[in-house]
Amino acid sequence: MKILHISDSHVSDTDQFRKDPLKDALRELETGDFDLFIHSGDVTDMGRNEQFELAADYFDGVSVPRIIVPGNHDKRSGGLPLFKQTIGPAKGVEFIGEEAVVIYVDSAVNDLDSGRVGTVQFKVIKDTLNEYHDKSVKIVVLHHHTIPIPWTGKERNVLSNAGDLLDLFIKTDVDLVLSGHKHFPNTYKLENTLFINAGTVSDRKTRYGDTNSYNVILVDEEEITVQIKRYNGHVKTKNYARSRKNLFTEFGRRRARIAQISNTFISDSYRFREGAFKDGAQHLNELDPDLVVHCGGIVEEGIAKDYWFASSLLEEIEAKILLTPAGRDINYLGYQLYSENFGPLDQTYDLEGVYLRGISSAQYDSNEGVVGETERTSLFREFSGGGSNFQILFLHHNVLPIPHSREKGLLEDSGDLLRGAVDNEVDLILTGTSSHPFATKINDTVVANANSFSSVYQRSLYGNSFNLIDIYEKVVVVSEINCLWGTWRIMGMWSIENSL
Ligand SMILES: [Fe+2]
Ligand SMILES: [Fe+2]
Repeated sequence: MKILHISDSHVSDTDQFRKDPLKDALRELETGDFDLFIHSGDVTDMGRNEQFELAADYFDGVSVPRIIVPGNHDKRSGGLPLFKQTIGPAKGVEFIGEEAVVIYVDSAVNDLDSGRVGTVQFKVIKDTLNEYHDKSVKIVVLHHHTIPIPWTGKERNVLSNAGDLLDLFIKTDVDLVLSGHKHFPNTYKLENTLFINAGTVSDRKTRYGDTNSYNVILVDEEEITVQIKRYNGHVKTKNYARSRKNLFTEFGRRRARIAQISNTFISDSYRFREGAFKDGAQHLNELDPDLVVHCGGIVEEGIAKDYWFASSLLEEIEAKILLTPAGRDINYLGYQLYSENFGPLDQTYDLEGVYLRGISSAQYDSNEGVVGETERTSLFREFSGGGSNFQILFLHHNVLPIPHSREKGLLEDSGDLLRGAVDNEVDLILTGTSSHPFATKINDTVVANANSFSSVYQRSLYGNSFNLIDIYEKVVVVSEINCLWGTWRIMGMWSIENSL
């Protein structure tokens, strides 16, 4: 199956719109033996009638099956009815031959740049994916990106429920998730799902000195090939093997056991559950980890009383604890209290071939996190030199959207941090926001987020919990451990053979 994937044409009658690259892409479509044409939104620049008519002139001549979804720009100026009149339905399901199902989604909200997939549409997507689970190619098309995109500035205008969609796509083994919106091409593989972002095909607003581009995607039984074709003639090709579910028969020696806790919120208020903390600490000690990583949200506020209480309670945990702050930990006098009680903001540790590196992403009086360019550069220099170690990066803010929580793009530079970590041999990223246990693998990097260990604000169905991460020579296993009962729930097992 061969797909031409373009995005963000931003058709208008101004010179912001570049006709030639769009014509080039459409010319390839006519000569290239394609099975499917996909436009992942922002067809027009302002959602105006004359712009839709101009766009229809370009796309009406397409002779292969076509799917075009609206973007945020198409839903400006009340553009949705015009989109439907001139372009076609904004959402639906299409079948391409016997093999493929394409679910196309309207993720845009009238007059907003951020995206949302409402509960009704979410359910339709879920039901459709379940109904057609046996199709050999499952494709979802939506305008907004699900995973942070590098080199596109501040992480913003995201899908508010990106975490739920991400979770659904990987659980239902969607093969391709095709998006645009950020005007920069990018591909990640999560579990068995390729998340492919297209650049802008014809808008002058490109990012990072890039030029216009589009994607050619080839799907066969064994692999998926993604070609990013730039208007300057540069072509970047990447092959991704179509994975099968792994059966693990041999784990190898266990190299390390790490307990990951987060959002303890220690204080004397009702929001801190001392009972959950003490039960959790007891179960944690029984599991005898080599190390505990606290991903921030240690105290409820950065005040002396909370810090004193926290440093005495944390002594109940027998293993060595590494910590990284959340915003609340450094509020008020927290900045001072943190270093007095727990040491430096950025903590590192070497555990016989397993290297841990904390990075402080917190800011005073803000939920929003940032790592920053200087810090990122030195961080990745450090990681890229440590090939034979199992390398772990830990920070408070999330780098992937977390299910069951509203995606706020909490880490400003999550796109750049994620791309850098994945490309620089970070084997595991531990985060601790949004209090929902979640783990997945993106390219060769496992990402695990922890629930709240002891706060009333937690999101696990079974109550406060922590993560247990067992690193074997060939496999990494991430489990959620319930604080009260000590029961286990395996969240995932991933092969790490290739990355070591
Ligand atoms: Fe756009
Ligand atoms: Fe957009």
